[in-house]
Amino acid sequence: MITIKDKTFVPFITAEAIQTRIQELAEQINQAYAGKTPLMVVVLNGAFLFAADLAKQLTIPCEITFLRVSSYKGTESTGQLKEILGLTESVAGRDLIVVEDIVDTGKTLGDIRDQLQAQSPASLAIATLLFKPEALRNPIDLQYVGFEIENKFVLGYGLDYDGLGRNTPDILVLE
Ligand code: XMP
Ligand code: MG
Repeated sequence: MITIKDKTFVPFITAEAIQTRIQELAEQINQAYAGKTPLMVVVLNGAFLFAADLAKQLTIPCEITFLRVSSYKGTESTGQLKEILGLTESVAGRDLIVVEDIVDTGKTLGDIRDQLQAQSPASLAIATLLFKPEALRNPIDLQYVGFEIENKFVLGYGLDYDGLGRNTPDILVLE
């Protein structure tokens, strides 16, 4: 259990369960992309630990790059993308795997997907560690999902509450 400012978070998904699931996702990706060299497009900040652990389990050659968005203030989605720091490299003709920490309403990934699709990649798949199906408002195809979770605010393993709590190996949930 940890308390950050006014909120208390309790254990939810253990580090061990996270790593086991990432190994399974990596095996699927290794098979699906055999003979290809995908470009992992990591959505910062939240996906940094997931992307690192996933990348370490990939046996296919792959490139890794990063983009950055911010759509959250406190524990409620504003539904607005405040900031997008674009990619430096061309994604045209590449097999993209967008790596995200969590899909909530789907707005963030929907916007990212549309902007990347406009640059004509060869393919685009999404890998998200967490997915809240009940919160989804924008239909989105998710190829690799770590865990479907209920519609509660979670923290840890990359996910933050007002900037804090990203550095835990486990995922916790708001009490
Ligand atoms: P949308 O609604 O656009 O939200 O799918 C996706 C982004 O919002 C953040 N997010 C969370 N962050 N705990 C967090 O720490 C949560 O429960 C949570 N739900 C959404 C996250 O940055 C994600 O990229
Ligand atoms: Mg995020």
